[in-house]
Amino acid sequence: MPLSTPAPAAPAAAVAPAPATATASPGAAPPRPDLYTPIHKALRAFMGDTLQRVGAMDIDDDEERAATLAQLEQLLDELRGHLGRENLFVHAALEARRPGSSVRIAGEHVAHLEHLHNLEDQAQALRDAQPAQRAEFAQRLYRHLSEFVADNLLHMACEEREHNAALWALYGDAELVAMHDRLVASLTPAELALTLRWMAVGLNVQELAGLFRDLQAKAPPEAVRAMLDIVQAHLTQPRWTKLARALGLPPVPGLVAA
Ligand SMILES: [Fe+2]
Repeated sequence: MPLSTPAPAAPAAAVAPAPATATASPGAAPPRPDLYTPIHKALRAFMGDTLQRVGAMDIDDDEERAATLAQLEQLLDELRGHLGRENLFVHAALEARRPGSSVRIAGEHVAHLEHLHNLEDQAQALRDAQPAQRAEFAQRLYRHLSEFVADNLLHMACEEREHNAALWALYGDAELVAMHDRLVASLTPAELALTLRWMAVGLNVQELAGLFRDLQAKAPPEAVRAMLDIVQAHLTQPRWTKLARALGLPPVPGLVAA
């Protein structure tokens, strides 16, 4: 099951989504906990949506410009927090058992921090721009954001391939789940809500169902319901109906699940 895990939950994981498990082919060894793929799917969806919005923005519409730049700011904050958590929880673990194993990716994180800072400056410049400057500033911001997204897509694929391989070689499943739970426990409620909002967009229904099955087994029903509400708000009706059925919930309150 893509997002379920047999490992015991740490107390901090009481309301934390479980890490995914890498997909195994029939007859293969059980899949290993995957700390990277679910959050990266969420970030890919967040980056793709934001890039599209910046490109399509009507720069002379004050409300649309402000809303688009606010989403961009939220994305940049999220990406900065994400790489900080990777450094703190994952790279530290890699270095503890295989010194030097996170050096390449850590170096890319340093470059990403500089790129994020530049994007924030360019977004602020667009906010402050005179009307005659807006088209040029918006085009510059869009191009630089597209370069950052392209770079980050390659970066995340490398992490999923190489850092997962190292983590799986160096740590057992229970240790990886505990590492994931410590990382998720460090999120603020707002950060957790934002993560769930983009997981709703980026994960497939089977992955979402696996995530919530795990939550149903570990977390209080009211906490699960609150997280389901966040996800439902960002799912199409067909996707919500499939998820509700997979979880044994009525797609519409009051109905009996089929
Ligand atoms: Fe990273």
